[in-house]
Amino acid sequence: MKEKTDEEGAALVITFKVCVVFHLLGPVGLDLDLDLDLDLDLDLSTVVRRVDPRFLSVTIDASLASQERFMLLLRSQRIRTLTKALSPAFLRFGGTRQDFMVFSPQSSQQPDSTSGYPRELRPGRPPVELSWWLEQKLKEDWIQHQLLSVCFSELTVDELNSFSSCSGLDLIFGLNALLRNTDNSWNSSNARSLLQYCESKQYKMSWELGNEPNSYEKKAGIRVDGYQLGLDFSHLRKILSESKLYRDAGLYGPDVGQPHSHRVDLLKSGQSSALCSDSHSCYYVNGRDTSLDDFLDPEVLDTLAVKTNEVLEKVEQESPGKAVWLGETSSAYGGGALGLSDTFVSGFMWLDKLGLGARLGLEVVMRQVLLGSGSYHLIDDNLDPLPDYWLSLLYKKLVGPEVLNVSDSGRNKRVRLYLHCANRKSYARGAVVLLWMNLGRKLARISLPDLIANSTVDTFVLQSDQLGEEGLESRSVQLNGVLLKMVDDKTLPDLSGARLPAAGHVKLPAYSLGFFVFLEARASACS
Ligand SMILES: *[C@@H]1O[C@H](CO)[C@@H](O)[C@H](O)[C@H]1NC(C)=O
Ligand SMILES: *[C@@H]1O[C@H](CO)[C@@H](O)[C@H](O)[C@H]1NC(C)=O
Ligand SMILES: *[C@@H]1O[C@H](CO)[C@@H](O)[C@H](O)[C@H]1NC(C)=O
Repeated sequence: MKEKTDEEGAALVITFKVCVVFHLLGPVGLDLDLDLDLDLDLDLSTVVRRVDPRFLSVTIDASLASQERFMLLLRSQRIRTLTKALSPAFLRFGGTRQDFMVFSPQSSQQPDSTSGYPRELRPGRPPVELSWWLEQKLKEDWIQHQLLSVCFSELTVDELNSFSSCSGLDLIFGLNALLRNTDNSWNSSNARSLLQYCESKQYKMSWELGNEPNSYEKKAGIRVDGYQLGLDFSHLRKILSESKLYRDAGLYGPDVGQPHSHRVDLLKSGQSSALCSDSHSCYYVNGRDTSLDDFLDPEVLDTLAVKTNEVLEKVEQESPGKAVWLGETSSAYGGGALGLSDTFVSGFMWLDKLGLGARLGLEVVMRQVLLGSGSYHLIDDNLDPLPDYWLSLLYKKLVGPEVLNVSDSGRNKRVRLYLHCANRKSYARGAVVLLWMNLGRKLARISLPDLIANSTVDTFVLQSDQLGEEGLESRSVQLNGVLLKMVDDKTLPDLSGARLPAAGHVKLPAYSLGFFVFLEARASACS
């Protein structure tokens, strides 16, 4: 046991032991029966990071608006109940589609879009053979349709605002940055018209410009360098400053996808004072060729640290002190991995990202997506909450913004731990919460250090409704052995933990994750 003392002489750093028993046969290696003794360092006196109270935030993909009637789904009582419970949080509306979305107010809508076609093609005419020129025109329009101008009207903006304000979320609207003038500068005329409309409605919202500008060349054959992007952000900041309502509105971006070295210049656009924050997307694996093992692989989970540190370093060099957000993130890119991103196993990536992201210094992490779009949603197409929803809800309820230091010097890869002050809305001063996961197929036991060994513990153990490896791909989750489901469209189940008396140790079942709240930890960092 090591000890360090502060001015008052209280013990600050405690080393304690974790006894982990593993039996691993997975492809990750270690096909041994191992009894592991882990030493953990736990510091209850120092806040190492402080995240935004909206740290866990969510997105709605702009593709939801490509068929505008789907926006009406946001009126669902069930979705509103589920979303409100995640407040406070940001709601980002954006994604790949955002740079192909054009605001086209109903009041000034174009006449019937088939009017450019011959009469034969209008409704009610018998089918005719496609002439070569018509085929050509349709193909061109098709490409245009896929790439360009998805029009959205006031409806999309109205629904988003009604939804976010009723749910208590802060809306961030992603503006199209691919509207370019011939000199490659951003053409703001469409954004201006959208801003005017939003201001006329007094909508409180903040803004983002462009989604993953580093992939514009691939997506649209347009290259926008960091310098130009900086000018564009300043331009938008200037437009906002001329508005009474949006003068002090947040402006976020650039949302840079996995930042490869040759495009880090985009982060330099942060030199422009227009930026409040940098955000970047991050996915661990490709949804098309990933496997269950990836979702449990500590090395895959560790890749977040590499990518995040890379971005943090760049931002520190280019625009020191600027907050860094994970602006769009999920388990697997390409829409997620069906059967994995939407099942219990996805929770390991999600909780680890929340724990590690906060520890590394991210201020906000935005989960792609709340609903719709792919298989990485929190609420599925039947509007039922998936395991990651329940995990997010517990996180909101239990975890405070102050990050404390916990580490295991044994570097055990199968147990991952993070420590925060407990959320003051749920617990009294001094309480701490341990975020944990056991990626292994054997129970792990953590012996607690003296400082928290005598504390009552509220335990929140999330497990699949089926035991063993098969259960990992279940779409249901149990909290302390009870299946989580909505009581009705307006009511969420009771989420109180199992309160256990001090026992000197806690147990982490195989393939499980969750939270332990130490009510009487008396952490000076949390008072
Ligand atoms: C910007 O776009 C609008 C709408 O498409 C167009 O009318 C205008 O001429 C463009 N501005 C410039 C400077 O190209
Ligand atoms: C956290 O704890 C580890 C292990 O004791 C130590 O190496 C590290 O410096 C600590 N970090 C901070 C920020 O206190
Ligand atoms: C914890 O409880 C044990 C036994 O009741 C006692 O000896 C010990 O001093 C307590 N430790 C702390 C830090 O309160």
